Amino acid sequence: MTSPKRYLVTAALPYANGPVHIGHLAGCYLPADIYVRYLKAIGKEVLFICGSDEHGVPITIKAKKEGITPQQLVDKYHKIMGDAFKEFGIDFTYYGRTSSKVHHDTAQEFFKNLYDKNVFKEETTNQYYDESAKQFLADRYITGTCPRCGNTNAYGDQCEKCGTTLSPTDLINPKSTLSGEAPVLKETKNWFLPMGEIQQTQQFQNYITRFDSWKSNIKGQCNSWLTEGLQSRAMTRDLDWGVPVPLKDAEGKVLYVWFDAPIGYISATKEYLQNQAPSTEHRAPFSDWWQNEDTALIHFIGKDNIVFHAIIFPMMLMTHGNYILPTNVPANEFLNLEGDKISTSRNWAVWLHEYLVDFPNRQDELRYVLTSIAPETKDSEFTWKDFQTRVNSELVSIFGNFVNRVLVLSDKFYEGKIPDGTIELKDEKLKSAQQNAFDEVAKNLHQMTENLNAIKLRDALSNFINVARAGNKYLADTEPWKLIKTNTEQVKGIMFDALQICAKLAIAAEVFLPHTSKKLKIMLNKNELNWNELFNSTILHSQHQLGKAEILYKQVEDEEIQKQLDRLESIKKVNSQQPIVNTIHEVKADITYEDFDKLDLRVGKILEAEKVPKADKLLKLIVDLGFEKRTILSGIAEYYKPEELIGKSVTVIANLAPRKIRGIESQGMLLMAGNDFGKLYSIGPDKEIEAGSVVK
Ligand code: MF3
Ligand code: ZN
Repeated sequence: MTSPKRYLVTAALPYANGPVHIGHLAGCYLPADIYVRYLKAIGKEVLFICGSDEHGVPITIKAKKEGITPQQLVDKYHKIMGDAFKEFGIDFTYYGRTSSKVHHDTAQEFFKNLYDKNVFKEETTNQYYDESAKQFLADRYITGTCPRCGNTNAYGDQCEKCGTTLSPTDLINPKSTLSGEAPVLKETKNWFLPMGEIQQTQQFQNYITRFDSWKSNIKGQCNSWLTEGLQSRAMTRDLDWGVPVPLKDAEGKVLYVWFDAPIGYISATKEYLQNQAPSTEHRAPFSDWWQNEDTALIHFIGKDNIVFHAIIFPMMLMTHGNYILPTNVPANEFLNLEGDKISTSRNWAVWLHEYLVDFPNRQDELRYVLTSIAPETKDSEFTWKDFQTRVNSELVSIFGNFVNRVLVLSDKFYEGKIPDGTIELKDEKLKSAQQNAFDEVAKNLHQMTENLNAIKLRDALSNFINVARAGNKYLADTEPWKLIKTNTEQVKGIMFDALQICAKLAIAAEVFLPHTSKKLKIMLNKNELNWNELFNSTILHSQHQLGKAEILYKQVEDEEIQKQLDRLESIKKVNSQQPIVNTIHEVKADITYEDFDKLDLRVGKILEAEKVPKADKLLKLIVDLGFEKRTILSGIAEYYKPEELIGKSVTVIANLAPRKIRGIESQGMLLMAGNDFGKLYSIGPDKEIEAGSVVK
């Protein structure tokens, strides 16, 4: 494409089934936002479109878990997610949602269009059906035993223990998670997108030549899908939550969530343009945005979304025929957290709304760190220690420190008025420091723009911080705070230069660190600063009155980091107590009946129970064995409160040799059933029977 006239940038619509975490931000929303801010800064016409993905099985499952309706669930998270994005300065032109009327209409029209063109293949298949819940079961609603590893809790689409991809009929002993009953296979008709056929078309073959200029991680994934050959995929599902299939014989069916969600980009654009007052910014009509080849369509996504954005959605768009195809799909890899995959279900994440509580008004610090470690070409890792180091040694010591020194000195030397800008530096040492600074600043700003154009945002950010670094070095090399005593004229020249560097930083910060940029512009008392001034030698003129110096960034303290680490540590603990499966214990060597008969097992009734002082695990019990009362110490204090035990019938080994524990003689032992994950239950008769009864 020759230079595009306008840019339609999208960020993957997040599922409205949970709050936003740092993985979302680093993978998709932050890079999209930085790129959009850059495009706007250089004067491009841009729409930045996103919204909540409110359909699909993850939504219905989460709603069930929270005990609310899917609509209530998406209302709740749509708000939470939208707020979090706003807080972090993710500057969507429009943040829509797929439960909106415009979206339902648009998605239905889209489907109908393909249907009328006979694009879909109708197929009748057997699907699992829950007879008591009276509904077909989505893959995630079926659990059973994994045929590969024996995990009894595998899902219909995947075994989370061994990672195998499954289909529901692969499961041994399938069970519906709705009723707990075994589902039955039942015939159902659905509409399939014949992706294998579309793959062969000239149009698709032309389209995939675009991959050549895309990032290698995307190209690689797509090519491997294409070489394997694409399978037809059902675009409708038997579910009661979603966009209803707009056909007469499709009662109880909705559009596949991956059919409707990307259409969300289209419907959100439509909705935005409809709501616009006629005179506002984006006057290009809908047709220009979605149907004009001189628009660049760019989808920012995470790597788990690649096939949908690079293959399936384009196939939908091209069979529809009335839409442009993506120009680029910059997908990021994953961000890990402290050595482990980020996981919503395991609560292994840094949630944005929680970050804001612990680090109020420090959004840009997180934006900075997440951009520095963005998983652009491979998975990367967030650690709190690294967060602290980057904030303290880069934002605080380099950027913040430079700006602060310049403003404080300007205030002190000139009462905040910009000094004469025509002074030439004379001394060789000063001159070379100045040249050095100018060169470094110019070089890094150029590279920064190139990197922004290429969506290499990590590198662009490092160019940015290098500008501040060059400014800092200029001051360190020339020491205006000392020089002021001997040569006030020369100091004016140095300070003038340093102030121009501050202005450049304020301009460039707008794309990476918008909160900082705003603050800095106030400090410079200059709200209107344009990107095209970035390479000007004079941005702030002599005599301009500066604002008040403020600290840009606070040091991140050890205690703040420790608090976060402690939180993660406690989550790890909770998680380790929620096993997927029990380990299989090997059966011990055979014994004879005579061996067994040596045990004297009796039913005992617990009369008293109390904690043993200074022993966390022990309870002291008085147990009635009918013929006598025994004192028994049992290590069950973590599992039972003393009061729960009183009156309980348990099984006691009555002839275990007495043993002293903590100075108390224990005269027997209780039988318990325990697993490896901290569960322990007492074993007793399942009906009332006298204490002392023999267990045999
Ligand atoms: N909700 C999906 C996810 O979080 C992304 C949908 S992107 C869209 O993985 F294109 F379908 F909207
Ligand atoms: Zn398995």
